[in-house]
Amino acid sequence: MKFNGKTLWITGASSGIGRAVAIEFSYKKCHLILSSRNKDALEEVRGICEHNGSSAEVIPLDLGNSESIVAAVKKAQAFNKTIDGLYHFGGISQRSYAIDTDIAVERKIFEVNFFGTIELSKMVLPIMIGNGGGQIGVTSSIVGKFGFPYRSSYAASKHALHGYFESLRAENVAHNILISMLIPGRVKTNISMNALDSQGKAYHKMDDGQNKGMSAEKAGRTIVNSLGKERKEILIGGSELLMVQIRRFLPRLFYYLSTKVQPL
Ligand SMILES: NC(=O)c1ccc[n+]([C@@H]2O[C@H](COP(=O)([O-])OP(=O)(O)OC[C@H]3O[C@@H](n4cnc5c(N)ncnc54)[C@H](OP(=O)(O)O)[C@@H]3O)[C@@H](O)[C@H]2O)c1
Repeated sequence: MKFNGKTLWITGASSGIGRAVAIEFSYKKCHLILSSRNKDALEEVRGICEHNGSSAEVIPLDLGNSESIVAAVKKAQAFNKTIDGLYHFGGISQRSYAIDTDIAVERKIFEVNFFGTIELSKMVLPIMIGNGGGQIGVTSSIVGKFGFPYRSSYAASKHALHGYFESLRAENVAHNILISMLIPGRVKTNISMNALDSQGKAYHKMDDGQNKGMSAEKAGRTIVNSLGKERKEILIGGSELLMVQIRRFLPRLFYYLSTKVQPL
């Protein structure tokens, strides 16, 4: 996949990994669509992207609101009839035990992380097919590969993305739709600050693990480089990624470690 001159839509572009990916793409001189809820933060990213030589359009959207997604797709098509890449970074995490978590909070996590992501993808897919193909990048997590304490619904929403997009990939190979699952371990962003607690309030604390994670800028470079190589699964992070292999090849060790691990 060559990004130069292409129209690339990035959700979660206001902050963290999505922001870093948008800025990394902007060096490739493309047309960027920047989305999330915080318009002011998106405008700041737009300025950086334009300075780096790309054109950029801010289209705010709320992934938890279907009407907002439909309106955003109309605006995106007015900006440019073709969409060559759609990269999902919009998402919210969780910091609460399953037993304490209000079901409304669990539904909200799924609305944003799963239903918002698939709804936008389903609306963009026919545009890509009509255009001869395209690339969709979907941000899961290492907890999309295994369960983890304090993240039950978040992990479930990320597991659901794997099932959905693996199916979508198989259905659309003939339409030249490339799908990449992005699997970050620990990246130093505001994800834990913005995570929901058992009652749906922002957790407002920086996890120790997050704080020691890879920088968003490094994650952004790794992601854009790997998307360019059309990798189907892209793992991003440090030694924490070992847990993916332990879960796969040494499941009994994984079950033991998962009861000992520090979740924050
Ligand atoms: N950081 C990590 O260690 C890590 C690890 C694994 C997976 N991930 C995944 O990476 C992605 C990016 O997270 P991050 O680490 O960069 O965290 P972040 O800094 O909190 O960024 C999250 C992004 O999602 C957007 N967002 C949240 N709720 C939204 C909604 N309802 N509608 C539209 N956009 C929404 C936020 O923008 P607004 O507030 O402007 O809407 C923000 O741009 C997420 O999917 C996360 O699950 C991160």
